[in-house]
This record gives sequence, structure tokens and C-alpha cells, in this order.
Amino acid sequence: MNKVVFLSPKPSDTIRLGKMIGRLLNRGDVVALIGELGAGKTQLIKGLAQGAGVSKSTYVSSPSFTLINEYKGEIPFYHIDLYRLGEEKEAEGLGLEDYFQGEGITAVEWADRIPSLLPEELLNIHIYYTGKKTRSIEMVAKGEKYKDLMTKFGVRSQEFGVKY
Ligand SMILES: Nc1ncnc2c1ncn2[C@@H]1O[C@H](COP(=O)(O)OP(=O)(O)OP(=O)(O)O)[C@@H](O)[C@H]1O
Ligand SMILES: [Mg+2]
Repeated sequence: MNKVVFLSPKPSDTIRLGKMIGRLLNRGDVVALIGELGAGKTQLIKGLAQGAGVSKSTYVSSPSFTLINEYKGEIPFYHIDLYRLGEEKEAEGLGLEDYFQGEGITAVEWADRIPSLLPEELLNIHIYYTGKKTRSIEMVAKGEKYKDLMTKFGVRSQEFGVKY
């Protein structure tokens, strides 16, 4: 399986979906999030971080003054937000490759701003508005490792409920 589409009726469902995905993430995994302003990328990452083992007491929000927030858990979790990035070449000095190739889990908001810097294999999550409170969340696996994750996820996704 390499693609699943969910319908999220409310923010807490987006977080819940993120948690379910987060539980399946391993060291070195990269999740690329794409979606308009306010689509729910940060909400989903909140869930990813919790699912990946970042303690609940550790507040997860979008990095506001830095581009990268780091959470120390059993597996380090990196939240990168490229909203304030201008051109792609501005990202070249940030050492993003070190995160992508490192031992932690990395989630990138506005991943579409750095197409040539992203690793070839990753989990792509595209969030679309379908209404004021509803979102369509499309997951696409690029690479064998992520296809395996999606297959495992496919079994668990039934517990999520709403699925196209
Ligand atoms: N089904 C839903 N899933 C996620 N968020 C939702 C949903 N319905 C409404 N919302 C609202 O949409 C907003 C999503 O905010 P969030 O910061 O996660 O978006 P974002 O994609 O990270 O935006 P930005 O591009 O500004 O970083 C929140 O205010 C949330 O309450
Ligand atoms: Mg955000």
C-alpha cells in the first residue's frame, strides 16, 4: 500500500491520526507535511510527536523564532517549520540533511519549499481543506520502508473510523 486518504472531522481527530502514525515511526524517519496556512500541519505534528514518545508535558507547537524545534525523547524528534523561509537556497546552510540522515524522527512543515533538499524516501502528508472544520489528509509513502509503515498503518487505520 502506498496511499491512504482520511477525512478528519475536527482538530482532535487530526491529532489522533498523527498519534497513530507517530507510533509507527522509527529512527531516521522523515515526514513531509504540505498544506495551506491553517490546514492543520502543526496539529498533526503534535500527534506525531506524542505517538513517537515525546512526553505530553512537553509542549509541541510550531517553532516561532527558530526554524527547528528539538524534543528529546527516547528517539529525538525534530519539528522543522519552513514557513519563514524565502527561497529554497536559503535552506542550504541550515544543515537539514543532517536531520534527514540523523538518528531522530524529523517532521517538516511546508516541505514543498525545499523540493530538491528532501530525501528521496519519505512519508508525504498532504492536508486539504474540505470545509471549515473538515480536512482531507492524504498520506503517500515514497520508498519501501514507508510502504511497510503504511501497510501496518492500514490495519490500524480501521480504528480511526472515517476513511475514504
Ligand atoms: N479537522 C481539523 N484538523 C486540523 N485542524 C483543524 C481542523 N478543523 C479545524 N482546525 C483548525 O485549523 C487550525 C490548524 O492550525 P495549524 O496550526 O495546525 O495549521 P498549520 O497547517 O500548521 O498552519 P501554518 O501554515 O500557519 O503553520 C487550528 O486552529 C485548528 O483548530
Ligand atoms: Mg504550522
